[in-house]
Amino acid sequence: MSMVTVTAPANIAFIKYWGNSKNNLPLNPSISMTLSSCVTTTTVSSAEKEEDLIFIENEGGEVSELKKDSIKNIKAYEQIERVKNIAGFKGFLTVSSKNSFPSMAGIASSASGFCALTSGVVLFTGLNNIFNDKKELSKLVRLSGSASASRSVHNGFVELKTGKSEDESFAVEIAPPDHWSLCDVIAVVSSKSKKTPSSEGHLLALTSPYLKTRIHEMQKRIGLVREAILNRDLEKIGICAEQDTISMHAVMMTSIPPLYYFTEGTMSVIHQVFKLRSSGLAVYFSIDAGANVHLICEKKDEKKVVEEFSRNEFVEKTIVNYPCPGVCQL
Ligand code: DP6
Repeated sequence: MSMVTVTAPANIAFIKYWGNSKNNLPLNPSISMTLSSCVTTTTVSSAEKEEDLIFIENEGGEVSELKKDSIKNIKAYEQIERVKNIAGFKGFLTVSSKNSFPSMAGIASSASGFCALTSGVVLFTGLNNIFNDKKELSKLVRLSGSASASRSVHNGFVELKTGKSEDESFAVEIAPPDHWSLCDVIAVVSSKSKKTPSSEGHLLALTSPYLKTRIHEMQKRIGLVREAILNRDLEKIGICAEQDTISMHAVMMTSIPPLYYFTEGTMSVIHQVFKLRSSGLAVYFSIDAGANVHLICEKKDEKKVVEEFSRNEFVEKTIVNYPCPGVCQL
């Protein structure tokens, strides 16, 4: 095979994963929805040099080699090595990726990126049985270190289960994309890269005195979100998503040293959500490890949401997403 191309979507978590246990498993289960407009396209081919190389194309079309200068970048090279070892593949690979959205700005680019990278290498090295078994693929993607990436394997609404061993931590589909016309309008208030990547943030979570409380109080919420998806209950999922966002950011802000991802723009959008909701518009917020705000609403209100938030002086642009298929081979 001369080349393989795959696409994988990012996802927005309504219940968020933050922090790892000692054996590198997510500390809590998480539940998300795939994002149709935030997609990574990755092509894998044989390398001309005697080493694996990763190239990233930015939004402006500039291509650069991924340097091994951060935990996250090193993990990407380690993941190629891991998959090659499983396949018994001896050659070297070139992996070229392109995002359709701002990278490293809290729009889960490592979710789509690590899912596409793993899946592309899996297919190129002939591990088609793993690619076709989405539970196994999600386990392998999770080993990349970006647990959110294993949720991008599946279609639509997805839960990542955590467990006591690596074998117990995998993603499952809760409902397919066409189950519910939910919409995620991302209000981009900063397309710059965040200062602290999630890979570093997960390590800091354990230093927060609030972490225990978060893990305890979220248990009930996990069941409520699963139920809200199955019942297409926007109010329930919206309230839970907002509570979970604030709970996770409370852990971040009480870590040592503290992590603040919210900016003036983030706060302005949050206040606008409350104001619009009190005037009758059903819109809720969710914020990952970044400043940008995901606005959750139903498709019937999407135009109004885009119109209202585009007027906010901090909003650079909006990106409209619907639930979509998970990883696909092109
Ligand atoms: C806050 O390390 O999986 O998005 O943030 O894209 O680097 P990136 O991914 P990862 O951490 C995800 C953390 C989160 C919450 C979530 O998506 O569950």
